[in-house]
Amino acid sequence: MRTLAILLVAIFAVNVQSARILGLFPHTGKSHQMVFDPLLRTLAERGHDITVVSFFPIKNPPANYTIVSLEGLAAQGVETIDLSYFDIQNKLLNSLGIEKIIKQIFDFQPLADMATAICSNIVDFVPLANAMKKSYDVILVENFNSDCMLGLIHVYGLKAPYISLSSSAMMQWSADRIGVTDNPSYVPLVSSEFTSQMTFLQRLENTILNVYYKTWFRYAIQMKEKAIIEKRFGRRIPDLQEIAKNVSVMLVNTFHSLNGVRPLLPGVVEVGGMHLDHSRKPIPHVSKYFVIA
Ligand SMILES: *[C@@H]1O[C@H](CO)[C@@H](O)[C@H](O)[C@H]1NC(C)=O
Ligand SMILES: *[C@@H]1O[C@H](CO)[C@@H](O)[C@H](O)[C@H]1NC(C)=O
Repeated sequence: MRTLAILLVAIFAVNVQSARILGLFPHTGKSHQMVFDPLLRTLAERGHDITVVSFFPIKNPPANYTIVSLEGLAAQGVETIDLSYFDIQNKLLNSLGIEKIIKQIFDFQPLADMATAICSNIVDFVPLANAMKKSYDVILVENFNSDCMLGLIHVYGLKAPYISLSSSAMMQWSADRIGVTDNPSYVPLVSSEFTSQMTFLQRLENTILNVYYKTWFRYAIQMKEKAIIEKRFGRRIPDLQEIAKNVSVMLVNTFHSLNGVRPLLPGVVEVGGMHLDHSRKPIPHVSKYFVIA
Protein backbone atom coordinates (compact mmCIF):
# COMPACT_ATOMS: atom_id res chain seq x y z
CA MET A 1 0.00 0.00 0.00
CA ARG A 2 2.75 2.37 0.97
CA THR A 3 4.71 1.55 -2.14
CA LEU A 4 1.62 2.25 -4.21
CA ALA A 5 1.17 5.63 -2.51
CA ILE A 6 4.77 6.58 -3.16
CA LEU A 7 4.43 5.45 -6.74
CA LEU A 8 1.28 7.53 -7.21
CA VAL A 9 2.92 10.60 -5.70
CA ALA A 10 5.90 10.12 -7.98
CA ILE A 11 3.69 9.82 -11.05
CA PHE A 12 1.57 12.85 -10.29
CA ALA A 13 4.44 14.97 -9.05
CA VAL A 14 6.10 14.91 -12.47
CA ASN A 15 2.78 15.35 -14.20
CA VAL A 16 2.45 19.05 -13.37
CA GLN A 17 1.01 20.64 -16.46
CA SER A 18 2.16 24.09 -17.37
CA ALA A 19 0.74 25.78 -20.42
CA ARG A 20 2.40 27.85 -23.10
CA ILE A 21 0.27 30.97 -23.31
CA LEU A 22 0.36 33.82 -25.82
CA GLY A 23 -1.23 37.13 -24.75
CA LEU A 24 -2.02 39.68 -27.47
CA PHE A 25 -2.87 43.23 -26.38
CA PRO A 26 -2.73 45.65 -29.29
CA HIS A 27 -4.50 48.62 -27.68
CA THR A 28 -2.67 51.73 -26.52
CA GLY A 29 -4.80 52.49 -23.45
CA LYS A 30 -2.94 51.81 -20.23
CA SER A 31 -6.18 51.57 -18.27
CA HIS A 32 -7.00 48.44 -20.29
CA GLN A 33 -3.63 46.82 -19.69
CA MET A 34 -3.90 47.47 -15.95
CA VAL A 35 -6.87 45.07 -15.83
CA PHE A 36 -4.99 42.27 -17.64
CA ASP A 37 -1.51 42.52 -16.13
CA PRO A 38 -2.27 40.93 -12.73
CA LEU A 39 -3.79 37.89 -14.51
CA LEU A 40 -0.79 37.53 -16.84
CA ARG A 41 1.70 37.94 -14.02
CA THR A 42 -0.12 35.41 -11.84
CA LEU A 43 -0.20 32.85 -14.66
CA ALA A 44 3.59 33.11 -14.93
CA GLU A 45 4.06 32.99 -11.17
CA ARG A 46 2.03 29.77 -11.09
CA GLY A 47 4.47 28.16 -13.47
CA HIS A 48 3.02 28.78 -16.91
CA ASP A 49 5.16 29.93 -19.74
CA ILE A 50 3.71 33.19 -21.00
CA THR A 51 4.53 35.54 -23.86
CA VAL A 52 2.87 38.95 -23.62
CA VAL A 53 2.61 41.30 -26.59
CA SER A 54 1.67 44.76 -25.34
CA PHE A 55 2.31 48.50 -25.42
CA PHE A 56 2.90 48.51 -21.67
CA PRO A 57 5.49 45.88 -20.68
CA ILE A 58 5.49 45.19 -16.95
CA LYS A 59 8.49 45.96 -14.75
CA ASN A 60 10.31 43.06 -13.06
CA PRO A 61 8.60 40.23 -14.95
CA PRO A 62 8.65 36.85 -13.16
CA ALA A 63 10.41 33.79 -14.63
CA ASN A 64 8.97 32.45 -17.88
CA TYR A 65 7.32 35.78 -18.69
CA THR A 66 8.48 36.86 -22.12
CA ILE A 67 7.77 40.41 -23.23
CA VAL A 68 7.23 41.50 -26.81
CA SER A 69 7.02 45.25 -26.47
CA LEU A 70 4.99 47.28 -28.96
CA GLU A 71 6.28 50.55 -27.49
CA GLY A 72 6.96 53.07 -30.22
CA LEU A 73 4.60 51.46 -32.76
CA ALA A 74 1.89 54.03 -31.92
CA ALA A 75 1.29 56.92 -29.58
CA GLN A 76 0.04 55.65 -26.25
CA GLY A 77 -1.86 57.13 -23.37
CA VAL A 78 -3.65 56.42 -20.15
CA GLU A 79 -7.06 57.15 -21.62
CA THR A 80 -7.20 57.24 -25.36
CA ILE A 81 -10.65 58.72 -25.75
CA ASP A 82 -10.69 62.50 -25.71
CA LEU A 83 -13.09 63.28 -22.90
CA SER A 84 -13.42 66.93 -23.95
CA TYR A 85 -16.15 65.83 -26.37
CA PHE A 86 -18.37 65.49 -23.35
CA ASP A 87 -18.01 69.19 -22.56
CA ILE A 88 -19.09 70.48 -25.93
CA GLN A 89 -22.67 71.68 -25.83
CA ASN A 90 -24.44 72.05 -29.12
CA LYS A 91 -27.74 73.84 -28.69
CA LEU A 92 -29.24 72.85 -32.04
CA LEU A 93 -28.57 69.15 -31.65
CA ASN A 94 -29.58 69.36 -28.03
CA SER A 95 -32.94 70.88 -28.91
CA LEU A 96 -33.49 68.09 -31.45
CA GLY A 97 -32.76 65.57 -28.72
CA ILE A 98 -30.10 63.80 -30.78
CA GLU A 99 -27.05 65.48 -29.33
CA LYS A 100 -26.22 62.48 -27.15
CA ILE A 101 -26.47 60.10 -30.11
CA ILE A 102 -24.20 62.23 -32.31
CA LYS A 103 -21.74 62.59 -29.46
CA GLN A 104 -21.53 58.83 -28.91
CA ILE A 105 -20.91 58.29 -32.60
CA PHE A 106 -18.07 60.84 -32.65
CA ASP A 107 -16.58 59.45 -29.47
CA PHE A 108 -15.94 56.12 -31.10
CA GLN A 109 -14.47 57.29 -34.40
CA PRO A 110 -10.90 57.73 -33.04
CA LEU A 111 -10.95 54.06 -32.03
CA ALA A 112 -11.25 53.05 -35.69
CA ASP A 113 -8.37 55.25 -36.78
CA MET A 114 -6.27 53.90 -33.94
CA ALA A 115 -7.06 50.25 -34.73
CA THR A 116 -6.24 50.47 -38.42
CA ALA A 117 -3.09 52.53 -37.82
CA ILE A 118 -1.81 49.97 -35.31
CA CYS A 119 -2.77 47.07 -37.57
CA SER A 120 -0.80 48.59 -40.47
CA ASN A 121 2.30 48.82 -38.30
CA ILE A 122 1.91 45.53 -36.49
CA VAL A 123 1.78 43.34 -39.61
CA ASP A 124 5.39 44.32 -40.31
CA PHE A 125 6.62 43.98 -36.74
CA VAL A 126 9.30 41.29 -36.71
CA PRO A 127 9.33 40.50 -32.94
CA LEU A 128 5.59 39.78 -33.13
CA ALA A 129 6.06 37.58 -36.20
CA ASN A 130 8.76 35.64 -34.34
CA ALA A 131 6.47 35.14 -31.33
CA MET A 132 3.67 33.94 -33.61
CA LYS A 133 5.88 31.34 -35.23
CA LYS A 134 6.08 29.39 -31.96
CA SER A 135 3.33 27.07 -30.78
CA TYR A 136 1.02 27.67 -27.84
CA ASP A 137 -1.62 25.84 -25.83
CA VAL A 138 -3.92 28.82 -25.46
CA ILE A 139 -4.08 32.37 -26.77
CA LEU A 140 -5.46 35.37 -24.85
CA VAL A 141 -6.57 38.34 -26.98
CA GLU A 142 -8.01 41.65 -25.92
CA ASN A 143 -11.48 42.16 -27.38
CA PHE A 144 -11.87 45.87 -27.86
CA ASN A 145 -11.55 47.97 -31.02
CA SER A 146 -9.56 45.60 -33.23
CA ASP A 147 -9.56 42.09 -34.70
CA CYS A 148 -6.20 42.48 -36.42
CA MET A 149 -4.58 39.93 -34.08
CA LEU A 150 -7.20 37.33 -35.01
CA GLY A 151 -6.22 37.72 -38.65
CA LEU A 152 -2.55 37.25 -37.74
CA ILE A 153 -3.35 34.16 -35.68
CA HIS A 154 -4.84 32.72 -38.85
CA VAL A 155 -1.96 33.82 -41.09
CA TYR A 156 0.64 32.22 -38.79
CA GLY A 157 -1.45 29.06 -38.53
CA LEU A 158 -1.75 29.07 -34.73
CA LYS A 159 -4.06 26.24 -33.77
CA ALA A 160 -4.51 26.93 -30.05
CA PRO A 161 -7.99 27.85 -28.78
CA TYR A 162 -8.40 31.51 -28.03
CA ILE A 163 -9.93 33.35 -25.09
CA SER A 164 -10.96 36.98 -25.36
CA LEU A 165 -10.47 39.48 -22.55
CA SER A 166 -12.44 42.66 -22.13
CA SER A 167 -11.36 45.40 -19.74
CA SER A 168 -14.90 46.83 -19.77
CA ALA A 169 -18.39 45.47 -20.24
CA MET A 170 -18.89 43.71 -23.57
CA MET A 171 -18.43 45.93 -26.59
CA GLN A 172 -21.40 46.49 -28.91
CA TRP A 173 -19.98 44.04 -31.47
CA SER A 174 -18.93 41.31 -29.03
CA ALA A 175 -22.21 39.54 -28.25
CA ASP A 176 -22.66 38.12 -31.76
CA ARG A 177 -19.36 36.31 -31.77
CA ILE A 178 -20.29 34.01 -28.90
CA GLY A 179 -24.04 34.04 -29.50
CA VAL A 180 -25.18 35.73 -26.30
CA THR A 181 -28.26 37.91 -26.67
CA ASP A 182 -27.94 41.69 -26.63
CA ASN A 183 -31.60 42.46 -27.24
CA PRO A 184 -31.59 46.28 -27.21
CA SER A 185 -34.97 46.46 -25.53
CA TYR A 186 -33.41 45.49 -22.20
CA VAL A 187 -29.62 45.16 -22.65
CA PRO A 188 -28.12 48.67 -22.57
CA LEU A 189 -25.06 49.33 -24.76
CA VAL A 190 -21.73 49.76 -23.02
CA SER A 191 -21.62 53.33 -24.34
CA SER A 192 -25.05 54.32 -22.99
CA GLU A 193 -26.06 55.49 -19.56
CA PHE A 194 -29.23 53.39 -19.54
CA THR A 195 -30.17 50.50 -17.27
CA SER A 196 -32.20 47.44 -18.25
CA GLN A 197 -35.36 49.43 -17.43
CA MET A 198 -35.69 51.76 -20.41
CA THR A 199 -38.45 54.08 -21.59
CA PHE A 200 -39.67 53.72 -25.17
CA LEU A 201 -37.41 56.52 -26.44
CA GLN A 202 -34.40 55.09 -24.65
CA ARG A 203 -35.05 51.70 -26.21
CA LEU A 204 -35.31 53.35 -29.59
CA GLU A 205 -31.97 55.09 -29.11
CA ASN A 206 -30.41 51.89 -27.77
CA THR A 207 -31.66 49.98 -30.82
CA ILE A 208 -30.47 52.52 -33.39
CA LEU A 209 -27.03 52.69 -31.81
CA ASN A 210 -26.85 48.90 -31.47
CA VAL A 211 -27.25 48.55 -35.25
CA TYR A 212 -25.03 51.56 -35.94
CA TYR A 213 -22.07 50.35 -33.87
CA LYS A 214 -22.11 46.85 -35.31
CA THR A 215 -22.15 48.22 -38.84
CA TRP A 216 -19.49 50.77 -37.97
CA PHE A 217 -17.17 48.16 -36.44
CA ARG A 218 -17.61 45.93 -39.45
CA TYR A 219 -16.87 48.54 -42.11
CA ALA A 220 -14.63 51.04 -40.31
CA ILE A 221 -12.45 48.38 -38.65
CA GLN A 222 -12.91 44.68 -39.46
CA MET A 223 -13.00 44.98 -43.27
CA LYS A 224 -10.13 47.45 -43.30
CA GLU A 225 -7.98 45.26 -41.07
CA LYS A 226 -8.70 42.27 -43.28
CA ALA A 227 -7.58 44.30 -46.30
CA ILE A 228 -4.40 45.42 -44.50
CA ILE A 229 -3.47 41.82 -43.65
CA GLU A 230 -4.30 40.50 -47.12
CA LYS A 231 -2.21 43.22 -48.76
CA ARG A 232 0.76 42.58 -46.49
CA PHE A 233 0.77 38.78 -46.85
CA GLY A 234 -0.44 38.64 -50.43
CA ARG A 235 -3.22 36.11 -49.81
CA ARG A 236 -6.87 35.91 -48.89
CA ILE A 237 -7.88 35.27 -45.27
CA PRO A 238 -11.32 34.34 -43.88
CA ASP A 239 -13.71 37.06 -42.74
CA LEU A 240 -12.39 38.30 -39.36
CA GLN A 241 -15.91 38.01 -37.98
CA GLU A 242 -15.84 34.26 -38.75
CA ILE A 243 -12.48 33.86 -37.00
CA ALA A 244 -13.87 35.88 -34.10
CA LYS A 245 -16.73 33.39 -33.75
CA ASN A 246 -14.22 30.69 -32.86
CA VAL A 247 -13.72 32.28 -29.44
CA SER A 248 -13.80 29.64 -26.69
CA VAL A 249 -14.37 31.81 -23.63
CA MET A 250 -14.87 35.54 -23.07
CA LEU A 251 -13.66 37.10 -19.83
CA VAL A 252 -15.53 40.33 -19.17
CA ASN A 253 -14.65 42.94 -16.56
CA THR A 254 -18.14 43.29 -15.09
CA PHE A 255 -19.99 42.16 -12.02
CA HIS A 256 -23.77 41.91 -12.05
CA SER A 257 -24.37 43.81 -8.83
CA LEU A 258 -22.50 46.79 -10.27
CA ASN A 259 -23.15 46.51 -13.99
CA GLY A 260 -26.68 45.16 -13.89
CA VAL A 261 -28.02 41.78 -14.88
CA ARG A 262 -28.20 40.53 -18.44
CA PRO A 263 -28.52 37.06 -19.94
CA LEU A 264 -25.12 35.35 -20.23
CA LEU A 265 -23.81 32.03 -21.51
CA PRO A 266 -21.39 29.67 -19.75
CA GLY A 267 -18.73 30.89 -22.19
CA VAL A 268 -19.04 34.46 -20.93
CA VAL A 269 -17.37 34.76 -17.55
CA GLU A 270 -17.70 37.89 -15.44
CA VAL A 271 -14.32 38.57 -13.83
CA GLY A 272 -15.02 42.07 -12.48
CA GLY A 273 -12.33 43.03 -9.97
CA MET A 274 -9.87 40.33 -11.00
CA HIS A 275 -7.14 42.99 -11.12
CA LEU A 276 -7.63 44.11 -7.52
CA ASP A 277 -4.77 43.49 -5.15
CA HIS A 278 -6.21 41.42 -2.31
CA SER A 279 -2.93 41.42 -0.42
CA ARG A 280 -3.42 45.08 0.51
CA LYS A 281 -4.28 45.87 4.12
CA PRO A 282 -7.87 46.99 4.72
CA ILE A 283 -8.45 50.74 4.58
CA PRO A 284 -7.86 52.23 8.06
CA HIS A 285 -11.08 53.13 9.84
CA VAL A 286 -10.49 56.89 9.96
CA SER A 287 -9.74 57.47 6.31
CA LYS A 288 -12.49 55.18 5.02
CA TYR A 289 -14.89 58.01 4.17
CA PHE A 290 -12.25 60.12 2.45
CA VAL A 291 -11.24 57.27 0.19
CA ILE A 292 -14.82 56.69 -0.89
CA ALA A 293 -15.33 60.40 -1.55
C1 LIG B 1 9.81 27.83 -16.72
O1 LIG B 1 9.41 26.96 -17.77
C2 LIG B 1 10.14 25.77 -17.83
C3 LIG B 1 9.71 24.97 -19.05
O2 LIG B 1 8.50 25.42 -19.56
C4 LIG B 1 9.95 24.99 -16.53
O3 LIG B 1 10.70 23.80 -16.55
C5 LIG B 1 10.36 25.86 -15.35
O4 LIG B 1 10.08 25.19 -14.15
C6 LIG B 1 9.63 27.19 -15.37
N1 LIG B 1 10.14 28.04 -14.32
C7 LIG B 1 9.34 28.60 -13.40
C8 LIG B 1 10.04 29.43 -12.38
O5 LIG B 1 8.14 28.46 -13.39
C1 LIG C 1 -12.71 27.72 -36.43
O1 LIG C 1 -12.22 26.58 -35.76
C2 LIG C 1 -12.40 25.37 -36.44
C3 LIG C 1 -11.96 24.24 -35.55
O2 LIG C 1 -10.69 24.47 -35.04
C4 LIG C 1 -11.64 25.41 -37.77
O3 LIG C 1 -11.84 24.23 -38.49
C5 LIG C 1 -12.13 26.60 -38.58
O4 LIG C 1 -11.36 26.72 -39.76
C6 LIG C 1 -12.03 27.88 -37.77
N1 LIG C 1 -12.65 28.97 -38.51
C7 LIG C 1 -11.98 30.03 -38.91
C8 LIG C 1 -12.73 31.02 -39.71
O5 LIG C 1 -10.80 30.22 -38.63
